[in-house]
Amino acid sequence: MITIALSKGRIYKETLPLLEAANIIPAEDPEKSRKLILDTNQDDVKLVIIRATDVPTYVQFGAADIGVAGKDVLMEHGAEGLYEPVDLRIAKCRLMTAGLVNVDSSNGNKNGRLRVATKFVNVAKRFFESRGEQVEVIKLYGSMELGPIVGLADLIVDVVDTGNTLKANGLKPMDHIADISSRLIINKAAMKMKHARISDIIEKIKAAVEKNA
Ligand code: ATP
Ligand code: PRP
Repeated sequence: MITIALSKGRIYKETLPLLEAANIIPAEDPEKSRKLILDTNQDDVKLVIIRATDVPTYVQFGAADIGVAGKDVLMEHGAEGLYEPVDLRIAKCRLMTAGLVNVDSSNGNKNGRLRVATKFVNVAKRFFESRGEQVEVIKLYGSMELGPIVGLADLIVDVVDTGNTLKANGLKPMDHIADISSRLIINKAAMKMKHARISDIIEKIKAAVEKNA
């Protein structure tokens, strides 16, 4: 059996045609079903539908053999136990710092220490450390854009695509941390144990990505 971990929303939608290229077609639409495990047209392949940030955890511990995760989520989680063989070139965005328009947030508050609100705590710490800046990182689970508006933080670290969310909340993009796209990830032990089947899926998905390029 091969288990593939996917999150609902943009990753599921954009991964569907790539799975189809590997002749894997879900039996149900997870956007309509409450089921967390979905059968596919292949007897030996099932999908588990989980939160985007949980995908690397499932694959690392072998609860799923294969997964699709944003590079942002992978940078935050770390690569232990995982192979990352294909850049799927989907769900593209940028990981950025952002702050209030008309406010110079670059020098920190009265104590000289910037407060940064983000769900990407490890990424944020590494980024500011690499610039030799001491910051206080505040963990949030979403709606980071609110942080600077209500005075919780000076800056945020979040993904930006069109910039509309930042703009709608009076924020501006500042430093570019990384270009982001979603990656196919594979459990290292499964890659050995189920090599033929997993390699076949990887190669078909890779070919579909290259065809789209
Ligand atoms: P969780 O449910 O665990 O909090 P999430 O809400 O961030 O995660 P999605 O919004 O489905 O989950 O995002 C999945 C991935 O898509 C992100 O990890 C990121 O790589 C990418 N992404 C997020 N926002 C955008 C966007 N506006 N445009 C393009 N790609 C995006
Ligand atoms: C994501 C992300 C940003 C927004 C950026 O949210 O958290 O808020 O997209 O995209 P933009 O630059 O095009 O506005 P999403 O729409 O996925 O909602 P979510 O908070 O539920 O993940």
